Amino acid sequence: MIPSHVVNRPTGRETGSFLALDLGGTNFRVCEVVLDGHSGARVRQSKHTITEAQKAAPGNELFDFFADCVYNFIAENGQAALTKKYKLGFTFSFAVNQVAINKGFLILWNKGFTNSGVVGADVVALLQAAFHRKKLNIDVTALVNDTTGTLMSHAYIQPSTRVGVILGTGTNCAYVERMENVTKYTPTDTPDAKEIIINMEWGAFDDEQVVIPRNKYDVKVDRTMNVQGKYTFEKMISGMYLGEIVRFVLVDLVKTGEIFKAGASPELNKPNHFETAFMSRIERDHTLDLNDTRTVLEDMLKIPRTTLADRRLVKTLCELVGKRSARLSAAGIAAVVTKMNKLDGCTVGIDGSLFELYPHYSNRMRDALREILGISAEYVVLEQARDGSGQGAALIAALADKQ
Ligand code: BGC
Repeated sequence: MIPSHVVNRPTGRETGSFLALDLGGTNFRVCEVVLDGHSGARVRQSKHTITEAQKAAPGNELFDFFADCVYNFIAENGQAALTKKYKLGFTFSFAVNQVAINKGFLILWNKGFTNSGVVGADVVALLQAAFHRKKLNIDVTALVNDTTGTLMSHAYIQPSTRVGVILGTGTNCAYVERMENVTKYTPTDTPDAKEIIINMEWGAFDDEQVVIPRNKYDVKVDRTMNVQGKYTFEKMISGMYLGEIVRFVLVDLVKTGEIFKAGASPELNKPNHFETAFMSRIERDHTLDLNDTRTVLEDMLKIPRTTLADRRLVKTLCELVGKRSARLSAAGIAAVVTKMNKLDGCTVGIDGSLFELYPHYSNRMRDALREILGISAEYVVLEQARDGSGQGAALIAALADKQ
């Protein structure tokens, strides 16, 4: 429950040109966002993949890479553009102890990042220093979590938005809280603020491991991925982990002789070789013989021969793990909306590959919401949000200017 220091929601009339830098997990983006003042924005962006080596390099090298990408991005507008002054919103989608709108200390890395010298450091200062090394005239005016960005960018076009959720590589939620309820934070620079966005870091919910029932595969994922004992909720929900849960079950079923009687494959035994994207593909396979499932299993995972019964079993397994993820995230949303006393109506802006691309994901969430909230579920609107990490960060940078 981290106060984001964002105390205003957008009106839709914000204007101006801002840079945004988005480090979410697998990808890294540089964006130039021009807010038009009519709930619209123009975005130019460049996208980069972060390699496994970059995720493990010393922190300064990672931040120098960011500065290089920003330099090249600005240079596309001509050499003169490089001397201009810019304001930048930094979307850094990791657990950060945020102490000001433009200051926050990394609590712990996850999503496979291990760069040294960053945990415990102010990530804005690290980025600012990398810009100085590159002689870029950029002011990092806002540090933003992607959920806060999603809430803001969706509120820019849909004012009833009170909650922002990410369901992608990781998962998390941000919501609008009344300031009087936030006892851990006094808004000294904005004493009149009535509300504040809270970055819940809900991925770390139940790290005490006493609330949510876990099975032996969850325990295995916890032991083998990222920091053990941390991010319990996220490990049962998000794209980084679902495929690995399925893989662990398959390996077990092979051992007990219940699947792939013709033999498994070395691929199946390699960590993270059953991608969550495979689950999407298998769940989308409605052919009689489950042909696409066969392609995944035999061509991509090199299982020598599969029977229809094998493929049906794999599909059921994907359904179980995919459904549990959707239902747990719906449970989270139901809890937040109930806590906010917004059962009479509010919009939840949701972004991320699971929500956007995983088959049936949003319907399963809706079903679960109905089970939990009954008729009130009808007033909780789940909407696809777009580009919270780019446009949302730009909006927060715009509002930080006024704050
Ligand atoms: C991070 C959050 C982030 C979420 C979604 C989690 O792993 O800790 O800060 O919002 O992923 O990207």
